[in-house]
Amino acid sequence: MIKKVTFAATLVTSVLLTGCFDSDKAPEEIAPVSEYTLEPVVETIAEEIAPEIVEQVLTNGKVMYNNLGCSGCHGAGGNSVIPSYPSLAGKDASWIFQQLKDFQSGARIDATMNAMAPMAEGHEQAIADYLSNQ
Ligand code: HEC
Repeated sequence: MIKKVTFAATLVTSVLLTGCFDSDKAPEEIAPVSEYTLEPVVETIAEEIAPEIVEQVLTNGKVMYNNLGCSGCHGAGGNSVIPSYPSLAGKDASWIFQQLKDFQSGARIDATMNAMAPMAEGHEQAIADYLSNQ
C-alpha cells in the first residue's frame, strides 16, 4: 500500500514537471514568457491588424529621428545644445539625405556617424524632411 502511494506520487510529480519545463533546455536557455507571448502579438498587429499604422510610424521622420537616438546628440528637433554635435534643424533636406548616404557608404568619415547612419537606412528621406522643416 505505501509502495503504491509512493509510486503514484512519483508519477504525478514527474508528469507535472515534464509539463512545466522544457526538459531539453537549461533554465537560462528558456525564453521568458513575455518573449513567447508578446512577439506574435506585435507581429500580428504589424502584419494584419494595422500595417498602415506601422507604415505611418516608419515614414514619420520625427518618430524615427527620436527613436533611433539621433536626438540624443543632435537635440530635440535637430537643435543641438552640445557644440560638438551639429544642429540639423532647418538644413536642406536633400543635403541631409546625402550626408546620411555618405556616412553609410563611407564617402564621409566620422566614427560616430558611420556607426549611427546605417540605423537610419530606409528612413533617410523622412528624417531629412522632418529636420529641414524645423
Ligand atoms: C553619439 C552622437 C550622435 C548620434 C547619436 C547621431 N549623431 Fe549625427 N553627428 C554626430 C557628430 C559628432 C557629427 C559631426 C560629424 C563630423 O564632424 O563629420 C554628426 C553629423 C551628422 C550630420 C551631418 C551634419 C553636418 O553639419 O555636417 C547629419 C545629417 C547627422 N549627423 C544625422 C544624424 C542622424 C539622422 C542620426 C540618427 C540616426 C544621428 N546623426 C545620430 C553625432 C551623432
